[in-house]
Amino acid sequence: MTDIRKMPILPVDAYTSQEWFDREQRRIFSRTWAFAGFVEDIAEPGQYLSVQAGLNNIFIVMGRERRLRAFHNICRHRGTQLLRTAGRTHKAITCPYHDWTYDLEGRLISVPDQETQFPQLDKSCLSLKAASVETWRGCLWVHPDPDAGSIMDWFGDVEPHLGPHDFDELVEYPDAATCYDVRANWKIVVENYIDVYHLSHLHSGTLAMYDHANAEFGFVGPHFAFREPLAEDYASNIEDNSPAPLILPKDRLGTWVPMLFPGIGFAESESSWSTFIVKPVAPDMTRVENRVRVKNTSDRDFLRQEWRSVSYWNRKVKGKYAAESGLETGDPMTGGDFTAEDVFACEQQQKSLLSPHFEHGPSSIEGEKPVRTHQEIVMAWLDE
Ligand code: FES
Ligand SMILES: [Fe+2]
Repeated sequence: MTDIRKMPILPVDAYTSQEWFDREQRRIFSRTWAFAGFVEDIAEPGQYLSVQAGLNNIFIVMGRERRLRAFHNICRHRGTQLLRTAGRTHKAITCPYHDWTYDLEGRLISVPDQETQFPQLDKSCLSLKAASVETWRGCLWVHPDPDAGSIMDWFGDVEPHLGPHDFDELVEYPDAATCYDVRANWKIVVENYIDVYHLSHLHSGTLAMYDHANAEFGFVGPHFAFREPLAEDYASNIEDNSPAPLILPKDRLGTWVPMLFPGIGFAESESSWSTFIVKPVAPDMTRVENRVRVKNTSDRDFLRQEWRSVSYWNRKVKGKYAAESGLETGDPMTGGDFTAEDVFACEQQQKSLLSPHFEHGPSSIEGEKPVRTHQEIVMAWLDE
């Protein structure tokens, strides 16, 4: 008898309706730690950046004593958003609407015409509302709840599965940063990221450097952990084949590709460490932001390694859907070749969801198990 694991655990509506989208924003993305950037994004007092965490826009600012604080980006007068994406202020944050002004510790310090217009006002009751901020693995994280507790309560158990890289030894490679929109629900994008079954099919021409048959994967709490060895052919001449200087010792090569709940992907390989941040925009639209870190080495060493590896990449990597994607392809550091395939597959899948003839087919026992588990986790969070 064939073992047929039926999806869906989630109904089609979960991928198409505004109501589901709103519920997820409220119950999942507003109640979990959100990635906000790298620690070096805020290096000086007065520097700030803002990030969306579900229904909450939160900004992080460094105080004069160099301490990071997070606040809800909402003026206590009539609610205007105070700060835009990123920047630097000197001593204070002034609302663009009526110039109410807060210090970097979030206290309301000045209200124009206070004596005549707000004679009874007690400014000390109108500080900005606090959120939580933490640093972990070289990244900034925010949580809308000021009493969210330690970030290690959330990520501690999965940390040992994230790969052996020393984050502080890597530097950002800005040319490889990408941001693109996928015309698909955020869960399709996450499911694709954790679908082990597709690796040797959709990516038959682009991910041959990894040994998919020996992948190890599973969930640690709500977080997905995945690692696989390098393919023998790729590893046997890694000094030439690697597209950038190695960031791991030769006896510890491999790739680690976790997806932290609800949409924070990392991809750690022999030569780079990158983020894959999934941002729901609409029921059928998702933004993905990637930033890449590499070994802190000279441009010369970097270029030399790129040239050494050209032969392997030209011979071995042939993407299928580069033309359709509009992404930059052909550069191993951006992952454009296999990303174009993923974007194409996600969008093609989303297109069928509104057809009355669509129904989920059987789901593979091992390779698609993470997809089913992720759906169960989403369901559990929405039911709570
Ligand atoms: S809304 Fe901010 S000062 Fe009025
Ligand atoms: Fe993929």
